[in-house]
Amino acid sequence: MMTVSAREGYRAWAATYDDAANPVTSLLNRHLEEFVGDTRGKRVVDVGCGTGRWVSRFGAVGVDLSFEMLARGPRRVTQGDARALPFRDACADVVMCALALGYVWPVGDVMRELTRISRGVVIAADLWPGVGWKRTFGSVEIENREYLLEELDVEGLVLEDARELFLGDEERRIYASAGRMDLFERVKRNPVLWMRRWRR
Ligand SMILES: C[S@@+](CC[C@H](N)C(=O)[O-])C[C@H]1O[C@@H](n2cnc3c(N)ncnc32)[C@H](O)[C@@H]1O
Repeated sequence: MMTVSAREGYRAWAATYDDAANPVTSLLNRHLEEFVGDTRGKRVVDVGCGTGRWVSRFGAVGVDLSFEMLARGPRRVTQGDARALPFRDACADVVMCALALGYVWPVGDVMRELTRISRGVVIAADLWPGVGWKRTFGSVEIENREYLLEELDVEGLVLEDARELFLGDEERRIYASAGRMDLFERVKRNPVLWMRRWRR
């Protein structure tokens, strides 16, 4: 399988990212909203915001590497790299990062950058490591690195909540309509996503 950079991969994926039935985003959609909670009156920054679906939902400011992904979404977004965020220290009550950490390495550097701009909580979610999930779009793999969950816990953050998310009925339907129930049966036994909240 051909591998492309995140810039290239998301340039191609941007046009259909929000529309394609995807079990991973479906699973996250079912859990993240409740996990983040009420953000009214809070300053929220969404790192690796993609098309900005959480930016709209949480009244956030978003940042992403991909112009093409940003161009699909709301206006409260800016182009930037998660390794050197264009925000000042301690500027946000909630700093979130969904499904993006695997594209940026070493993950500890990104976690330190999320921590730097937070004065409240850091919330992140991503694919469960070590079970062979591929970050693919069509027939290409987007360059990524596996990391250990322990690498997420950087100095200055205290873990408040950690969840393991498993596929459910909504995701089963997506696999069924793609004719991939064999795959569903294989992956349903392990967590598909981790989701964590730390306090600064
Ligand atoms: C799977 S999408 C997730 C988008 C969104 N957070 C969501 O939940 O739908 C991953 C995003 O990470 C972005 N990304 C990859 N590397 C990045 C980096 N170094 N800095 C900022 N964003 C990056 C990609 O451009 C892409 O939009």
